[in-house]
Amino acid sequence: MPPAAADFPLPSETLSLVHTVAEVREAVHAARLRGEKVGVVPTMGALHSGHLSLATSAREECGFVIVTIFVNPSQFGPGEDFEKYPRMLERDLAACRRVGVDLVFVPSAAEIYPDGFRTQVEVTGISNVLEGACRPGHFSGVTTIVLKLLNIVQADSAWFGRKDYQQQVLIRRMCLDLNVPTVIRTCPTVREADGLALSSRNAYLDGEQRESALALSRALKLARDMLVRGETSVERVRQAMRELLEATPRVVVDYVTVAHPETLEELEEPLPEMVALVAARVDSTRLIDNLPVRLPSAPGDRSS
Ligand code: PAF
Repeated sequence: MPPAAADFPLPSETLSLVHTVAEVREAVHAARLRGEKVGVVPTMGALHSGHLSLATSAREECGFVIVTIFVNPSQFGPGEDFEKYPRMLERDLAACRRVGVDLVFVPSAAEIYPDGFRTQVEVTGISNVLEGACRPGHFSGVTTIVLKLLNIVQADSAWFGRKDYQQQVLIRRMCLDLNVPTVIRTCPTVREADGLALSSRNAYLDGEQRESALALSRALKLARDMLVRGETSVERVRQAMRELLEATPRVVVDYVTVAHPETLEELEEPLPEMVALVAARVDSTRLIDNLPVRLPSAPGDRSS
């Protein structure tokens, strides 16, 4: 079993809950006057051990740690789960307290998108493949809210999970392209003992659906094993992943791929470093997962 939220030590003495941009800015200003580094973990709430591992990592490096909780409507498409997305503020605040978060920013939609709001941020190209192809408009919602949150908080560093692989690639690109000074940090996916990647959406799964959901991480492990053992056809790897998923009851595949770790271009031949990605629906719950793959270096190869 992965560590439960309750297992995290370090009770924080005081946790502030604020709702406005002005309050966050004031708290960050005060932290800077105290000489503290500021870290932020943007989230949509329903915090699990994956989120808390990001906050713990921020805690280790920063004197002042902020978690933002905002279920961002503009990154959900029509018919997606915006309305039913889990909202559990009291539980989230207790978890933040346990890992020593200093401040939780929970803005209203009007605070973030006041009347007259017109701007959208788009990272071209890589926003339109994989998740972007399945969820049109999703990533412009993500990059717009993330840039806003980074501008509001003006932290030294911001932490994101590698579970949303494409999202963190896009956020890094956006920050590089737009000279955002906040350093983007990513932490590995946290998994249950049986391999299921932690996700707030796992809350939608009943026992049988959860069993079916394990096919995602199994398909990724299969891809990694085939590649590490020397499979040279990425197409055969994709085919094997797809067959494993399609043989699982309740699972409908959106995509399986093995891609370049930065450009996310689908590969035909293995690279020394790649990423295998999968998206599938388990009945009505859409899940994503990924696994970085690194090939063992050839004997005598000193390049890696
Ligand atoms: O990963 C998430 O939870 C969201 O996409 C984020 C980065 C908080 C933006 O709403």
